Amino acid sequence: MSTPLIRPNVLQLEPYSPGKPIEEVKRELGLTDVVKLASNENPLGPSPRAIEAAVQAMQSVNLYPDGSCFELRQAVAKHLQVPPECLLFGNGSDELIHYIGLTFLMPGDEVITGHPSFVRYEAAAQLNNAPLHLVPLREHRFDLPAILERVNDRTKLIFIANPNNPTGTIVTAEEVEAFMNALPEHVVVVWDQAYQEYVSRADYPDTLRYVRDGHNVIVLRTFSKAYALAGLRVGYAIARPEIIDAMNRVREPFNVNSVAQAAALAALHDQEHLRRAVELNRQGLEYFYQHFERLGLRYVRSEANCVMVDVQRDSKPIFDQLLRKGVIVRTGHIFGLPTYLRITTGKPEENERFICALEEVLQA
Ligand SMILES: Cc1ncc(COP(=O)(O)O)c(C=O)c1O
Repeated sequence: MSTPLIRPNVLQLEPYSPGKPIEEVKRELGLTDVVKLASNENPLGPSPRAIEAAVQAMQSVNLYPDGSCFELRQAVAKHLQVPPECLLFGNGSDELIHYIGLTFLMPGDEVITGHPSFVRYEAAAQLNNAPLHLVPLREHRFDLPAILERVNDRTKLIFIANPNNPTGTIVTAEEVEAFMNALPEHVVVVWDQAYQEYVSRADYPDTLRYVRDGHNVIVLRTFSKAYALAGLRVGYAIARPEIIDAMNRVREPFNVNSVAQAAALAALHDQEHLRRAVELNRQGLEYFYQHFERLGLRYVRSEANCVMVDVQRDSKPIFDQLLRKGVIVRTGHIFGLPTYLRITTGKPEENERFICALEEVLQA
């Protein structure tokens, strides 16, 4: 049956392909014990205070949530030292990426991002019929000078994941400063900082500076990663009030549910739990690096909660064999890096299980 009513650009969109769910792997392979290090989720779990707040908030779910996220907005504004009118909350930062496309892209506008990077930028461009230019990463990092070369009069949006997913790499404060100075005013830059809390490097840029200075910049943050609330879906955008006001017109009236708002607020107030999550991730990355070096495997040093390792052969059969041993990771094929695997840090015992399984598979 043909589908003449459907917009062609919608039919060209690839549905999002998530990491394989644990239950599916158990069912398909008859396994009982499966670990998933595939979706950049936080193995520590949410703050107990966030869980308590969520349970409490359940009592009022007969009421619509506060669409403006008043309390959460005040708390995040205080935490970041920005005015509350510079914030907009979304059902995950995914939703905000969608809103950015709807708010800014007109026929003829173009979008630039790096490759490989987070796939939802492509969807934002494609849904709005905006040509997308993918600028290859350089040594696994966003290549800001090469992106600048692609900018023309039609460029409207540039998406930069910093740290990047899947490579975990960053662009530095100095590189960002040079980039921002050279960028024409008609371009809006989206700094997607979903993994910011994990970053340890001192040369990581403070992009809020550009928001405060009135640039056409949107910073995206999320409660999904280091705050461990991926299932509740809370992300936020920080930009100057005119941009936030425009995106707010596009926003669904009740896009962030009341349970999620309460949990995010409590999670924000539990900075000790956040520090534990960041430390667990740091230890996980160090453990992986140590064993990759022992196994003679090249890897990309990461500032996020995942690491790319080069298994020096097609990674799909390695992925399949790891799956049969009950370990779910990601192959690099979806990112155009077919000899790589992307592994999210887990609990220490999960990380050990992955390294043991990888060693067995590589030696087989
Ligand atoms: C770079 C990047 N941005 C945004 C997201 C979406 O996060 P959220 O759960 O806030 O929608 C992800 C999720 O993996 C990501 O890797």
